[in-house]
Amino acid sequence: MSDVAHLKRTLDRIPRGGLAEAFYRALFAAHPDLRTLFSTDPGAMEQKFEVTLRSIVESLDRPADMAVPLRTLGQRHESYGVHPDHYRFAGEALREALRECLGETWTPDLERAWNDAYSRIVEQMTGKPTG
Ligand code: HEM
Repeated sequence: MSDVAHLKRTLDRIPRGGLAEAFYRALFAAHPDLRTLFSTDPGAMEQKFEVTLRSIVESLDRPADMAVPLRTLGQRHESYGVHPDHYRFAGEALREALRECLGETWTPDLERAWNDAYSRIVEQMTGKPTG
């Protein structure tokens, strides 16, 4: 199975809402100051985040289709006050959330595939290499 197919299957195993809830909990536990960036109702925010993340993962094997939407999403994030360093914090929180949601099915292979995918997403959103 390709890495992308593996990631899609993985997200499909997580009940709707579960990943976003675990993600924001991990993000704000590690970086409480980031709460001030968010003004939208957390439930609505979680839903938007999760729907978008799932659709990004669905499209990872069609990078050309994703370049413009991801850059536009990244530019909106700049206007929310999101700094490039914040993507590292979000990456750590997402990994934590996936580990929590997947339990024993979270494997080193999956972690590698996820890290690689997340770097590509951030590069497209910020327009900068993550190196
Ligand atoms: C893979 C990375 C990310 C994805 C897929 C994502 C997705 C989204 C989506 C779908 C929205 C809804 C509004 C819109 O579409 O513009 C949003 C809003 C937002 N995101 Fe993200 N995001 C990501 C990373 C981050 C990071 C690293 C931060 C910084 C801590 C962040 C902070 C915010 C804030 C502050 C808002 C606006 C909240 C509000 O309206 O109150 N996001 N994000």
